[in-house]
Amino acid sequence: MSQPTEQQPIKLHFSDNGQGEPIVLLHGFLGSSAYWDEVIPLLSRHYRCIVPDLRGHGHSPVSTDPYTIEDMAADVVSLLDELDLKQVTLLGHSMGGYITLALVDQYPSYIKSWGLVHSTAYEDTEEAKQKRLNTITQIRTRGMIDFVDGFAEGLFAPHLVYKLPDSILKVKEIGYITSPEGGCGAAAAMRERPERLSIIQNANVPVLLVAGEYDPIAPPDRMFVADSTRITTAVIPDIAHMSMMEAPEQLVNIIHDFMQNQLKD
Ligand code: MLT
Repeated sequence: MSQPTEQQPIKLHFSDNGQGEPIVLLHGFLGSSAYWDEVIPLLSRHYRCIVPDLRGHGHSPVSTDPYTIEDMAADVVSLLDELDLKQVTLLGHSMGGYITLALVDQYPSYIKSWGLVHSTAYEDTEEAKQKRLNTITQIRTRGMIDFVDGFAEGLFAPHLVYKLPDSILKVKEIGYITSPEGGCGAAAAMRERPERLSIIQNANVPVLLVAGEYDPIAPPDRMFVADSTRITTAVIPDIAHMSMMEAPEQLVNIIHDFMQNQLKD
């Protein structure tokens, strides 16, 4: 287990809906808690859904110093402490999944179960690391709107781009309000994150891995890296990287089944 970070946690903006078993949902890069807007009304019928804006995203502040994925995990732990939540189910989408893996690694006592939604425990490839630098340069030189305009549609399956214009517009509008410092800080943090395959391979609590059939960012083979009775896998057909918008009801059903199976154990 690596050492927890020394940076001061950032106080995160969050929403808190419903009652029952707590589920914490972490959004992805240039997203916000609003990424989960179609999921929360369905899921909060059964569970308490705590949904933060991660550091530098949505309405949460960003730090001036460089920070790591582990620092972003510490922010979430600080929120759990603020809410006096001792154990939760933690589900992370994409970058939120990298933060989930770091939190499970460094603060396992907070975790009753956890999952990745279109995310991976692999580190960045050399090509991906170069792309992170290009992202930072583009955001710094051409601004957030330019970057987000070239980024949003690629998160969706091509055949859904024309069917879900409102979702794509929403992703863009959420991205536009991310501060450039937040976008660049998160890109740099993702670039430096370590590989955490062993967190899945050695899981000793229930784990959910949800992939999109056509996801170019976290394809199923980059997600499903271990097989055990602890691990539940699901592939949502005909979607890419954004099940919370491309197929929200299917995602909710998968999460609900995962939660109910834990209650049976
Ligand atoms: C995300 O949606 O969070 C990003 O696509 C993750 C990444 O760039 O690795």
